[in-house]
Amino acid sequence: MVASFGDQVLRGKKVVVSAGPTYEDIDPVRFIGNRSSGRMGFAVAEAAAQAGAQVTLVAGPVSLTTPAGVVRRVDVRSAAQMHAAVTDAAQSADIYIGSAAVGDYRPNAVAAHKLKKHDGADLTLQLAENPDILASLAAAQPHPFLVGFAAETQNVETYARDKLQRKGLDMIAANQVGEGLGFETADNAITLYWADGSLELPRTDKAALARQLIECIASRYKAVRG
Ligand code: CTP
Ligand code: CA
Repeated sequence: MVASFGDQVLRGKKVVVSAGPTYEDIDPVRFIGNRSSGRMGFAVAEAAAQAGAQVTLVAGPVSLTTPAGVVRRVDVRSAAQMHAAVTDAAQSADIYIGSAAVGDYRPNAVAAHKLKKHDGADLTLQLAENPDILASLAAAQPHPFLVGFAAETQNVETYARDKLQRKGLDMIAANQVGEGLGFETADNAITLYWADGSLELPRTDKAALARQLIECIASRYKAVRG
């Protein structure tokens, strides 16, 4: 599929993109994070802007410059902050693309001071599950057209279709991580799934992949929302 943006497929649409990891603080010097560079999400934000959308980018801790054409960037650290920023921006959005690798758990309590070692004893951290941003958007009416990502190490289609249905999404972009693809790499390959269809986007650089993804989102958006 060749993505052509001559016709500005998302002209005038408000699009919110989340990108990057979240960091869940343990104490003032430590956190729980995940392996996400944010590059795929930033490429998606840039492609949406090129397609004529008014893009808000909600970014976790990443070292990336704001893509050309993005009108608003909100930097966050934790999943709770990302949840609040996305919920706020999604109020007036037509499309939400959740490409962030949101931390699933956070420490029950953040220690006020640096935790110290205790003579070789084990340390146990109590973790609480974070709310699901996509599922909480889906539960509100009306809500934007919702696109999720699923990075899986096995059973990609089964897990992706399960997330599509369970979270009430319009579309999910799934990829197998490992084998030089996915996190912290320049290339990626994804398969898009929606209720009654799918589309495979073969391995290419993240910018080209993001343009193809935006093309497909725009066409599904028009099919479902008119
Ligand atoms: N997601 C979200 N809020 C969370 C966790 C995930 O909005 N608290 C979104 C991600 O941004 C992504 C999609 O849900 O678009 C799938 O994320 P993933 O981690 O694959 O799904 P989980 O439901 O967390 O399942 P698991 O990690 O157990 O595979
Ligand atoms: Ca998860």
